[in-house]
Amino acid sequence: FSNFVIFIYYFLFQFSRWKMNDSFILPQPGSRYSISGGNLRISQLNKEEDAGIYQCLASNSFGTILSREASLHIAYLEEFKTQRRSPVSVREGQGVVLLCGPPAHMGGELTFSWIFNEYPSFVKQDTRRFVSQKTGNLYIAKVEPSDVGNYTCVVTNSVTQSRVQGPPTPLPKIEIQFPEVLAVAKGLTVRLECFALGNPVPAITWRRPDGVPFPRKVDVNKSSGVLEIPYFQQEDAGPFECMAENSRGKNTVKGRLSFYAPPHLVEKPQDVQKAIDESLLWECKASAKPKPSYRWLKNGEPLESFEVVNGALSISSLTLSDTGMYQCIAENRHGRVFTNAELRVIAVAPDFSYSVLKAQTLARQGGDVLIECRPRMSPRGMISWRKGKEALRESHRVSVLDNGSLRISNITKLDAGLYTCVARNQFGVASSAGTLVVKEPTIITSKATQLDVTVGESVVIPCQVSRDPTLDVRFTWFFNEQLINFGSHGGYFEKVGGTSAGDIMIRNIQLRHAGRYTCAVQTKVDSASIATDVVVRGPPEPPLDIKVDEVAETTSFVSWSPGPDNHSPVFAYNIQIRSPFSLGWQAAKTVPASLGGQQLTARVVELSPWVEYEFRVLATNSIGTGEPSKPSQKIRTKDTLPRTTPARVSGGGGSRSELVITWEVTKQALVAHLSAQRYSSCQWWTAHWPVSKTGPSCCQIVWSVI
Ligand SMILES: *[C@@H]1O[C@H](CO)[C@@H](O)[C@H](O)[C@H]1NC(C)=O
Ligand SMILES: *[C@@H]1O[C@H](CO)[C@@H](O)[C@H](O)[C@H]1NC(C)=O
Ligand SMILES: *[C@@H]1O[C@H](CO)[C@@H](O)[C@H](O)[C@H]1NC(C)=O
Ligand SMILES: *[C@@H]1O[C@H](CO)[C@@H](O)[C@H](O)[C@H]1NC(C)=O
Ligand SMILES: *[C@@H]1O[C@H](CO)[C@@H](O)[C@H](O)[C@H]1NC(C)=O
Repeated sequence: FSNFVIFIYYFLFQFSRWKMNDSFILPQPGSRYSISGGNLRISQLNKEEDAGIYQCLASNSFGTILSREASLHIAYLEEFKTQRRSPVSVREGQGVVLLCGPPAHMGGELTFSWIFNEYPSFVKQDTRRFVSQKTGNLYIAKVEPSDVGNYTCVVTNSVTQSRVQGPPTPLPKIEIQFPEVLAVAKGLTVRLECFALGNPVPAITWRRPDGVPFPRKVDVNKSSGVLEIPYFQQEDAGPFECMAENSRGKNTVKGRLSFYAPPHLVEKPQDVQKAIDESLLWECKASAKPKPSYRWLKNGEPLESFEVVNGALSISSLTLSDTGMYQCIAENRHGRVFTNAELRVIAVAPDFSYSVLKAQTLARQGGDVLIECRPRMSPRGMISWRKGKEALRESHRVSVLDNGSLRISNITKLDAGLYTCVARNQFGVASSAGTLVVKEPTIITSKATQLDVTVGESVVIPCQVSRDPTLDVRFTWFFNEQLINFGSHGGYFEKVGGTSAGDIMIRNIQLRHAGRYTCAVQTKVDSASIATDVVVRGPPEPPLDIKVDEVAETTSFVSWSPGPDNHSPVFAYNIQIRSPFSLGWQAAKTVPASLGGQQLTARVVELSPWVEYEFRVLATNSIGTGEPSKPSQKIRTKDTLPRTTPARVSGGGGSRSELVITWEVTKQALVAHLSAQRYSSCQWWTAHWPVSKTGPSCCQIVWSVI
């Protein structure tokens, strides 16, 4: 046997001892035991003397805790005893069982296999042959002549890896069954075996008689003789049935799997520090099946004097002697879990050294103040307050809160003074003092108003305050809730109030500067704010939706809708027109001649026929005329008879059968010519136009009566 070491680390602990089967191990020099760093080392391990239950006790100045039990088993596997086994005779077609009869062993799992005749020829398992891993027995459902030979059982121990071989057995119904009830721990892998002898070879099938299907994790095809359920859970528990069937009949075996789980902690006590006389409730909860029972240890010893309900430990009034290391143990018959926590019970006289009162507390007249008093003391004692030399008189304005803080509301000048907090418990008294200084409130004297400004003007928005002269005051401005950053915003904003007022000036105000301006004032003791709405008036925005219809030879009808008036009503509209012959935009003649602010339509007159026009509208208010609207769609006036004649008509030249006539046209006349083409007949005359313009290449001039 080799040496065996049990490791348990408790770095913090200064002293540890070991117990074996409830008696302390005393490592003498030269003995097989040694303890170092809390670890117990046993040399020359002995099967008889060392197998047993080991526990470590670790102690330091806070107490003692007991470790979980470690159970030491010494694994071994002895040799087979018998050397020869008698031959087994069997009739061909019958079934047979060869017994393995494993030798004495301990610890680890045994695995079984069979050698047929000579190593390394192992018996292969199939529907006809089966090796039980529970007993080691070899089952042959229906013996065939080729089965004749020597069979040797081989047993291997998973811990020691030792392997022994039985004496060979020369060759040789449901034979293997599983237990009626089998308890399986949560998470384990269960293997149920079932094998039948018979001729023909019986088929083995598994099912659950309660109709519950096998979960997906069960591979029903793995080996018909074994049902393997990995990672066993509560829902896998229930009845199981194995059926062996061949053409002669069938046979079934029933069994049941039950579920159990060793305790697993779900809630455990945490280290606490408590004042003397306080109460303690420590929860300890474990999940387990069957339900766990709970025990508590204090410094490694069973705790009996306190109440334990559902595992929780409760102590109603702590004393200094309750300080120590506590352990909760949850156990059922399948296992046991330990958890540790430290309880410190402390007793301290009041002490302000970490939490002196604020030397000076500033408050605003009419406001509220909370002066905190939080001495260290255990247990919590009494807190009282003094003002000056006298006990503080409480009133509807002055009160001491449950946590000892002092609250004063609707403060007056008379509340100023030195306040002392006095804390007292059974271990002593301490006090700490601070001054309350009462300041004048900050009041904004400017009135919240609305300012009316015209684009381009400058305006001052006032923010005047009355305040305590000993306090610094800070002004902050917001435009539509956005902080104004003086120096940016294109330089329009400027502070003009000096140090005691917060006025701002907006220079050359623009339409976009209309909105709400908020002045926020802050001192060490209070804050205030006012808002001023600024309206910026400007020339109207352009009219919208310019529409032109009822287009005739020299007139058309124009309509529009008003744009925003920028806070000043529109009193006039003007219409402008543009054609390819005009120099830019020109005023149009309209009916009525002048268009008032309510007028949203007009007839434009004195247009030229057969000309493309665009229209636009301008609005005017008391501040000025706004930008023109977008131009309308282009429209063309109707054609009509010409009103002018061509000039300098002459003729002559040309080839045979051709007469060339030339003339000059004014622009209006050109328009007339173009409209005249519908009267033309180009049989004999070809006219050369002096202008390059898409149009007829020949024309009869019907109005050529010059
Ligand atoms: C210790 O106790 C276990 C059972 O609790 C027993 O099997 C073992 O033999 C004991 N060991 C010794 C050395 O007495
Ligand atoms: C079985 O073993 C015995 C003794 O070792 C031997 O005499 C016999 O021939 C073996 N039988 C077969 C079939 O190998
Ligand atoms: C198990 O075997 C049956 C029949 O051979 C087959 O239909 C089924 O798909 C197999 N199941 C799995 C999970 O391999
Ligand atoms: C005391 O109670 C008041 C009101 O509930 C609270 O504002 C203050 O923070 C508390 N002080 C301490 C030290 O807990
Ligand atoms: C605060 O005190 C003033 C003067 O003492 C009194 O007029 C006022 O009503 C008080 N306000 C409140 C809310 O108690």
